[in-house]
Amino acid sequence: MSKSILLYWATGGNVEKAAQQIYAELGAEKLEMADLASFDYHRFDEFDNFIFGIATVGAEIWRDTQGDNYWNDFFVNLENTSFEGKKFAFYGLGNQVLYPEHYVDALGYLKKEVEKRKGTIVGYWPTEGYSFTDSEGVADGKFFGLALDEDFQKDLTPERIKQWTAQISREMGL
Ligand SMILES: Cc1cc2nc3c(=O)[nH]c(=O)nc-3n(C[C@H](O)[C@H](O)[C@H](O)COP(=O)(O)O)c2cc1C
Repeated sequence: MSKSILLYWATGGNVEKAAQQIYAELGAEKLEMADLASFDYHRFDEFDNFIFGIATVGAEIWRDTQGDNYWNDFFVNLENTSFEGKKFAFYGLGNQVLYPEHYVDALGYLKKEVEKRKGTIVGYWPTEGYSFTDSEGVADGKFFGLALDEDFQKDLTPERIKQWTAQISREMGL
């Protein structure tokens, strides 16, 4: 049986809240869950499917090698690890009203890091129903994962998560 895990960072805010909703939707028998600071990256090869949760909080923060940037540490630790044969789905928190030119940019960062290591990305999500001008997390009218906006579209989050988890369940064969 394939093994799946949801990894997210940061804790204590909207990314963690969405992680709990996704976990509740998919069920503990299908999925493990851990925040990135608690996850031992040596366990990476145990898993076939990964869900990654991230917030866009300014490129200077999530690309920085300083501070509590656990996504950066994660990818540096797995720099020479092949992701081939594994599936990856992303969800990203952002704010399309205050940052319309950079809405959920961090989805683009995750895509780049995963593709560099030859992972397969699933969970692409349509841009209909969002209002923004630019994003590094979009190509061909699709986000590279589920885009969430707890600041301005909070009421849409539960239904989006429900639909997206059903979609990735199919795509990952959960
Ligand atoms: C300093 C700062 C910078 C941000 N920059 C962006 C951004 O560039 N693009 C975006 O979509 N959201 C941006 N946001 C919004 C956050 O991604 C959003 O509020 C998210 O829900 C925070 O998740 P968290 O509570 O787990 O930290 C920014 C928020 C902060 C505080």
